[in-house]
Amino acid sequence: MDLPENITIKEVGPRDGLQNEKTEVPTQDKIDWINQLSESGLSYIEITSFVHPKWIPQLKDAVEVAKSINRNEEVTYAALVPNMKGLERALEADIDEVSIFMSASESHNQNNINKSIDQTYPILKEVVNEARRAGKTVRGYVSTVFGCPYEGKVDEKQVIKVCHNLLEMGIDELSIGDTIGVANPIQVDYLLRKLERYFPKDQLALHFHDTRGMALANTLAALQLGYHTFDSSLGGLGGCPYAKGASGNVATDDLVHMLNEMGIHHQIDLDKLIEAASLIQSKVNKPLPSKQMEIFRNQ
Ligand code: HMG
Ligand code: MG
Repeated sequence: MDLPENITIKEVGPRDGLQNEKTEVPTQDKIDWINQLSESGLSYIEITSFVHPKWIPQLKDAVEVAKSINRNEEVTYAALVPNMKGLERALEADIDEVSIFMSASESHNQNNINKSIDQTYPILKEVVNEARRAGKTVRGYVSTVFGCPYEGKVDEKQVIKVCHNLLEMGIDELSIGDTIGVANPIQVDYLLRKLERYFPKDQLALHFHDTRGMALANTLAALQLGYHTFDSSLGGLGGCPYAKGASGNVATDDLVHMLNEMGIHHQIDLDKLIEAASLIQSKVNKPLPSKQMEIFRNQ
């Protein structure tokens, strides 16, 4: 197999994971967890989100969390930002990287951020410009790329258009989201080959949810095409609150295990990840769904 030698894993558990947990994790526990994650060799952690606290009360302490964690120089600390109000809060909290987000499908965009796709572009464009002016890097997310909970299959032309419009804003990287975990490896291969015609591979990351147990298989399909940046959530924590039935991202610990077995290089210490997963597992009061955590519990 022709595979990339180095992989970057972007840990999104403190944001994508916790935003969908019913149990509200106390602020200090989040800080302790992120501090542990920062010492596990991860180079990137999405720590929270500056969305409206009415929509995601689990992350209403975003500013406090961002201000209180220990910042490891080797780690980029990112957070979701939907609009200028969110950017104000993110800058107050001195976040390193701003992540803007929208959907490829109209109805998911409307449900998720209360705007049509066309209304969203100028809002995000202003966020990108202002974040850049403040010296921040910017990442983008496009959701529902492989399927939408309201509309089903999403037209690939629409996906390409939204990706194009986001990259045109001058973002550094775009994460391609299988929000509800409906993708399969053939579809991933097909769509990524399409996207390659329009966008540099190095600017794209993959964000697979594991709702149907397909996320690692989809990751392998992307790896085989040379993609090397993947979002994941420790222990498989989380989901999407506006995509019914969506479960967590591919589990960071399962992904790291797979890369270890395949001899693909990364900087992450699996034992430290398991320690950090054990901490957050005790705070959300439920067994985390990853295979590595299942093995660990049964030891
Ligand atoms: P809205 O109600 O349309 O906002 O919400 P608005 O601009 O009309 O403002 C209404 C009020 O909200 C105002 O206050 C604003 O100041 C306030 P008032 O004047 O009435 O007192 N407000 C805010 N307060 C705090 N922080 C803010 C903010 N913005 C406005 N940022 C909004 C629009 C986008 C804010 C809302 O719809 C929202 O917060 N949505 C977030 C939904 C969300 O977090 N979804 C999950 C994350 S996306 C995801 O999980 C997918 C991803 O993982 C990739 C994948 O899996 O595909 C990234
Ligand atoms: Mg997600």
